[in-house]
Amino acid sequence: MQLSDIKKVAVLGAGQMGAGIAQVCAAAGIDVALCDIKTEISEKSIAKIGSILQRQVDKEKMRAGDREKLLGHITPAETMVGIKDADLIIEAITENPDIKFKVFSDVSAAAKPGAILASNTSSISISKLAAITEHPEHVIGMHFMNPVPLMKLVEIIVGLQTSDEVKAVITALAEKLGKTVIHSKDSPGFLINRFLIPMLNEACFVLQEGVGTAKDIDTGAKLGLNHPMGPLELADHIGLDTCLYIGDVLYREFADSKYRPPVLLRQLVAAGWNGRKAGRGFYEYDEKGRMK
Ligand SMILES: NC(=O)c1ccc[n+]([C@@H]2O[C@H](COP(=O)([O-])OP(=O)(O)OC[C@H]3O[C@@H](n4cnc5c(N)ncnc54)[C@H](O)[C@@H]3O)[C@@H](O)[C@H]2O)c1
Repeated sequence: MQLSDIKKVAVLGAGQMGAGIAQVCAAAGIDVALCDIKTEISEKSIAKIGSILQRQVDKEKMRAGDREKLLGHITPAETMVGIKDADLIIEAITENPDIKFKVFSDVSAAAKPGAILASNTSSISISKLAAITEHPEHVIGMHFMNPVPLMKLVEIIVGLQTSDEVKAVITALAEKLGKTVIHSKDSPGFLINRFLIPMLNEACFVLQEGVGTAKDIDTGAKLGLNHPMGPLELADHIGLDTCLYIGDVLYREFADSKYRPPVLLRQLVAAGWNGRKAGRGFYEYDEKGRMK
C-alpha cells in the first residue's frame, strides 16, 4: 500500500481526539467516517467541529466555502458500518484496555482486506493489540497530540509485527497532515507519556498531601518552569479518566510503584469529574470549556 491508496479513513471514537483527527484528515481532502457507539455522538461531534470552524470564518481566518468543503468530507457512522470500505482505520476510543482489545478484534475481522489499523492509544502495547488481529503486520501506533488541529507532533509506534511498508505509509500520511513525526519503540507509554504521566501524578500527590493549592502548583510550573500549562490544568485538558488509564497501564506493565496513580486521581474519576470535557476535574469549567 502507498499513501495515494488511502482514500477513505474511518476514525473510531468521536471524542476530543477522534474529532480532531477527523478534522485534520478532512482538511487534507481525505474522506472520513467518524464513528462512535451511536451515530448521534458522531453527529454532535461534527456539529462541534462546524462551530469551531465557523469561529475561524468569523475571524476571517478561513473562507466559508473551505469550511463547507472540509465538513463535506466527514460523515457520521456507527463503527461496524463506517469501517467497511476504509483503507485506514484510526482508533481513538477510550483508553480502557478491555474496550480497546474487544474493538480491535471485532474491527480487524470486519475490515477491508489490506486495511491499515492504527491506534491513537496513549500507552497500550501495539504488539499486544496487533496480536489479536487477523493481520498484525498492518497494525501501528499513530499517537496524535491534543488538540489535534493545533499540535504539530505525531508519535509513531511500531509493534514487533508492524511491516516497514505500513510504517512508511503512516509516516507519509502524518507528514501530509502537516505534522512532525517522532518514532518510538513499543514500550508502555511510548516516549511522551512515559515521562509526562509521572509528572502529572506527582503534581496530584503534592495536591493530595496539601503541600500547595492547585493554583499554586500550576502557577509554579507556568511562571517558574516556563510550561504553557500547569500539570493539573494539563491533566484536566487530557481527561482525568485517560490519565488514570495511562497511569494504570504504566504501573501494571512496569510493575514499578513509581508509576502508581494517586488516590485523589482515582476519587476524581470515580466521581465522574474527568476534567474539562466533563465540566469539572481539578478545576471547574463552563459549557464552552473555559475555566471558571
Ligand atoms: N485526551 C488526550 O489528550 C489524548 C492525547 C493523545 C491520545 N489520546 C488517546 O486518544 C484516545 C481517545 O481519547 P479522548 O481524549 O478522545 O477520549 P474521549 O473520552 O474524549 O472520547 C472517547 C470516545 O470513544 C467512544 N467510544 C467508547 N467506546 C467505543 C466503542 N466501543 N466504539 C466506538 N467508540 C467508542 C466514546 O463514546 C467517546 O466518544 C485514548 O486512547 C487516549 O488515550 C488522548
